[in-house]
Amino acid sequence: MATGRRKIAVIGAGNVGATCAFVLAQMKIADIVLLDIFEGFAKGKALDMSQNSNVLNYDGTITGTADYADIAGSDVIVVTSGFPRKPGMTREDLIGKNAEIVQQVGTGIKGHAPDATIIMVTNPLDLMTYHMQKVTGFPTNRVIGQAGVLDSARMAHFIALELNCAEEDVSPMVLGGHGDTMVPLPRYTTVGGIPITQLMSEDRIEAISARTAGGGGEIVKLLERGSAFYAPGSAAAIMAEAVLNDRRRVIPASCHLTGQYGLEDVYIGVPCILGANGVETIFELDLSDSELESLQGSANFYKGQLKDILGY
Ligand code: NAI
Ligand code: 2OP
Repeated sequence: MATGRRKIAVIGAGNVGATCAFVLAQMKIADIVLLDIFEGFAKGKALDMSQNSNVLNYDGTITGTADYADIAGSDVIVVTSGFPRKPGMTREDLIGKNAEIVQQVGTGIKGHAPDATIIMVTNPLDLMTYHMQKVTGFPTNRVIGQAGVLDSARMAHFIALELNCAEEDVSPMVLGGHGDTMVPLPRYTTVGGIPITQLMSEDRIEAISARTAGGGGEIVKLLERGSAFYAPGSAAAIMAEAVLNDRRRVIPASCHLTGQYGLEDVYIGVPCILGANGVETIFELDLSDSELESLQGSANFYKGQLKDILGY
């Protein structure tokens, strides 16, 4: 039943998009529009989810479409359209094809939902977030990339397994790009307020950091077709909710930097406050020389790709 409530559009009705829409529906915070280039695919998923309303007792509408006119008035838009990795591929192998998709989607968003805040998911995440900001021309605080919530959740899971403790008591911190150069930060990762550096050996922390950095690839290899979607879709939904409800959540996200951490004009994962204006504040952590070097190395890798491949 229509509620006249706020509106969230999810672009791409594939694995991540549909999961995100499903999680958002259960939050009961907005009407949801699911847009895909394949109209029937979006409509079919939306109808299936709508029929689940009676079972799971969520309200608000879930509509499928291929028409950008239907995203008009969206408060938040989650962009998941694009190709996922196949085994053996890096996220960066997706640049060419996904940049074209982001161009098309960004043009649709700019034309029909100029006031929306965009949460990007499409890979390679940090590059596609930069590209989306350029295509739409939206203020940089309103174009944000999802990576840190997922990468941190992966690290949290591995820590909880190691310590045999509750997942919810782990407060992880993973910065940097969403790729092989990501930067898990054990010094800023706590369990019940205790730094993990006091709870685990250096070897185990290193092993967990490495498994976190390869977390997406591990799942791609297991699935053999497509990449992870439950945790990624949920992570994007959490970010959309933070913006919609002005939650001012403190999370790592891919934000546009203007001098923080010695980095200029690049999107990279850093801790921020996420609220009604998108990125409200970026926190600058006191990093050791080697941590800063890793973060800058990650950002500079993407800066090189922005220039060499996307021509920015
Ligand atoms: P998927 O293949 O299941 O879904 C992608 C959807 O995008 C398809 O339904 C397709 O029809 C649609 N699409 C393609 N071109 C489009 C266009 N021009 N306009 C509208 N829709 C279009 O892929 P999945 O697994 O949902 O992944 C989506 C993207 O998210 C991939 O690029 C993947 O690498 C990325 N990803 C990013 C993560 C992150 O943490 N940032 C985590 C997981 C996935
Ligand atoms: C992931 O990390 C592939 O980016 C996707 O699962």
